Amino acid sequence: MVHQNSAKFHLAHLESTQKFGQSIGQMIEAHTLLALAGEIGSGKTTLVKAIAKALGVVETVTSPTFVMLNEYRTGRLPLYHLDLYRLYDEESNEIIPFDLITGQLDEILNTKSIIIIEWANIFLNGYGQELNKLTENGYLSLSLEADKQDDQARILTVNYVGETSKTSFFLFEKLCKLSKDILV
Ligand SMILES: Nc1ncnc2c1ncn2[C@@H]1O[C@H](COP(=O)(O)OP(=O)(O)OP(=O)(O)O)[C@@H](O)[C@H]1O
Ligand SMILES: [Mg+2]
Repeated sequence: MVHQNSAKFHLAHLESTQKFGQSIGQMIEAHTLLALAGEIGSGKTTLVKAIAKALGVVETVTSPTFVMLNEYRTGRLPLYHLDLYRLYDEESNEIIPFDLITGQLDEILNTKSIIIIEWANIFLNGYGQELNKLTENGYLSLSLEADKQDDQARILTVNYVGETSKTSFFLFEKLCKLSKDILV
């Protein structure tokens, strides 16, 4: 049975986002896919950096906007960091066909690793089903928004998509328990 679950968090400062990422990095298990959405500067890479640090990645995590995929192998689990911003062609208002990257994602998901995708919304709108099929363990969609009242704060909506028996769902539950004080 497929369930959908959602939780909203208020990240009052940069440090709150870093702390949230740190918790993810400590608890995340292999074969987990995180789909990050949010406007430019909303904090996606900030979150990835904190996750990587908690995983024990020693390299500096940089935004992969121009290279599409960065791979970090020095942490507790290999981390693949994708940024799909470039998949969207503003001029033609078209998305580069998804199957160009599904093969690669499929391959990575079969290894004991973690995948984090920035600008995942580019294909979640229209390709959500594809992503769902791709990941047997379901996935967590993390969507960051500015807080209109406070430019240092962010609102994070976490959605779990998939079966509730899977590792991604357990992470979702743990995050909800851990972060009671920032749940909105
Ligand atoms: N509560 C907060 N959470 C996250 N970042 C914050 C927060 N408050 C301020 N910031 C700042 O917002 C910026 C977020 O930048 P970041 O590169 O993480 O965004 P991004 O979503 O990855 O952008 P892009 O779409 O360009 O990749 C940083 O400069 C960070 O210091
Ligand atoms: Mg970024």
